[in-house]
Amino acid sequence: MNRLDTPISMVRPGQIEFGVGTASRLGAWAQAKGYRRILVISDAFNATRTDVLGLVGNVVVFGDIKAEPDTGDLDRVLQAAKSAEADLIVGFGGGSAMDLAKLATVLVGSSQALADVVGAGKVAGPGPAALAQVPTTSGTGSEAGIRALVTDPATQAKMAVESIHMLADIAVIDPSLTFSVPPQVTAATGVDAMAHCVEAFTSRKSHPAVDLYALEGIRLVGRFLARAVADGSDAEARAGLSLASLYGGYCLGPVNTAGGHALAYPLGTRWHVPHGAANALIFPHVLAFNQPAVPEKTAAVLEALNLKPSDDIFGIFGATHGFCAGLGIEMKLSALGVPKADLPTMADDAFAIRRLLDNNPRELARDDILKIYETAF
Ligand SMILES: NC(=O)c1ccc[n+]([C@@H]2O[C@H](COP(=O)([O-])OP(=O)(O)OC[C@H]3O[C@@H](n4cnc5c(N)ncnc54)[C@H](O)[C@@H]3O)[C@@H](O)[C@H]2O)c1
Ligand SMILES: [Fe+2]
Repeated sequence: MNRLDTPISMVRPGQIEFGVGTASRLGAWAQAKGYRRILVISDAFNATRTDVLGLVGNVVVFGDIKAEPDTGDLDRVLQAAKSAEADLIVGFGGGSAMDLAKLATVLVGSSQALADVVGAGKVAGPGPAALAQVPTTSGTGSEAGIRALVTDPATQAKMAVESIHMLADIAVIDPSLTFSVPPQVTAATGVDAMAHCVEAFTSRKSHPAVDLYALEGIRLVGRFLARAVADGSDAEARAGLSLASLYGGYCLGPVNTAGGHALAYPLGTRWHVPHGAANALIFPHVLAFNQPAVPEKTAAVLEALNLKPSDDIFGIFGATHGFCAGLGIEMKLSALGVPKADLPTMADDAFAIRRLLDNNPRELARDDILKIYETAF
């Protein structure tokens, strides 16, 4: 827990456009900046509607990003970026497309390879192209941050690259782009956005300058997630979630996540559970486990979610588990195709993610992690 007098460094995209119908502002911005060769990095769904961005000039669309991308996906993106010789790279999609757009921006035309830049601050300098991010899910907050995640197929682990040179020049956050996200994905990615806020808020590295965004992000999810799940075209609810996701991104930069994400990662890397679904399933377990270390902040989380106050582990678990299950989220590991025999290996993998576990307010031993997986099974 940091105090207000602890130094902190915060960054934001150079410009943020927010609101229903703002997508085409990207085209106007790009034109004003004089960008004529544009590469849009996207997934199969969003690649079919890049016209909403209003881009003019020589626009090339790479539309093959799959969820939870690995280094093979990155190589294909870099090939496309090399031949496009773009002066503007646009990430158009969820966290997967936006993260690969970040990496393309700094790796294309660089003498550095991915292996040289994994970690924090290893990217030598800015790339030749500007970067724009346009999120189409409300979850990762990747549009606001300086981190990109890509899976190493050999180890199945997520590699994190962090660099100020991957900060977007502009983020265009148009909640109407998320209307088409199916209810289940809306629920899971919404809880992911909230988990970014909760984990930063309760982190050992939490900071009062970020707590404000964290709490408001949690409140927005508490207020709007059920509405957006029930009616995907509820513009106000979608806007609330887009803002929560952005605020989650503000939390990820200077503070980052902790135990919840560390325990969720093996579900994705080993069993291809989508990032949001994995985090939603783990969230109540780690929140309850951490309570003894951060009782006041845990109480504030329940209050922000408008859940029944409780100061015992079972009450906290019950309330937050009920919140997630009520959104239709699958809360049993066994139902997600994870075999019981893999739980010990998953616990080893999670325990090795020191960059996140070291932020957790309460020490999570390898056996604590295994116990959580067994309970969740
Ligand atoms: N950089 C960061 O700070 C950060 C933070 C959290 C997660 N991540 C990463 O982000 C990735 C997950 O991102 P995500 O949860 O946004 O999902 P995603 O980008 O993987 O997309 C999931 C699926 O949803 C589809 N989709 C996207 N937008 C849609 C829309 N509007 N309507 C219908 N379908 C749509 C995509 O085609 C894809 O099939 C993971 O790789 C994760 O590690 C990054
Ligand atoms: Fe996340």
